Amino acid sequence: MSERTLVLVKPDGVERGLVGEVISRIERKGLKLVALELKNVDRQLAEQHYAEHDGKPFFESLIEFITGGPVVAACVEGPKAIAAFRQLAGGTDPVEKAAPGSIRGDFGLEVQYNLVHGSDSPESAARELKLWFPELGA
Ligand code: TYD
Ligand code: MG
Repeated sequence: MSERTLVLVKPDGVERGLVGEVISRIERKGLKLVALELKNVDRQLAEQHYAEHDGKPFFESLIEFITGGPVVAACVEGPKAIAAFRQLAGGTDPVEKAAPGSIRGDFGLEVQYNLVHGSDSPESAARELKLWFPELGA
């Protein structure tokens, strides 16, 4: 049983030249790229994407950050793709939560600059993929 997840390499990851590193880890894990795009994020997409965090103290700063430079968006597919990518990414805080060997654990220092996004549940994946890749359908 295959599932799909949304992966973003956020502006810090693109700026630091870590796109290839992230894609390489996705491929080495055995996951497949279904769609891949370099994209400038407008405020509307950013606010929809992070709607669950609206009202939190870090929301405004997060929206400014994610709209501040291009991101690489990918639709990634495979068995347990959602959990598999969350495992590759590591915990939200790159130092306090992400283990060494994970993307955030290996390359991140600060929670806002944690390099990647991965959908956190089947419901989130469906919602986010519709926002970022409406052309994929379903
Ligand atoms: P969240 O959905 O909790 O984390 P994840 O990306 O692991 O699913 O938060 C979304 C993003 O918001 C997170 O990747 C980085 C940012 N963020 C902060 O800047 N400060 C914070 O205290 C938290 C919890 C998140
Ligand atoms: Mg999240």
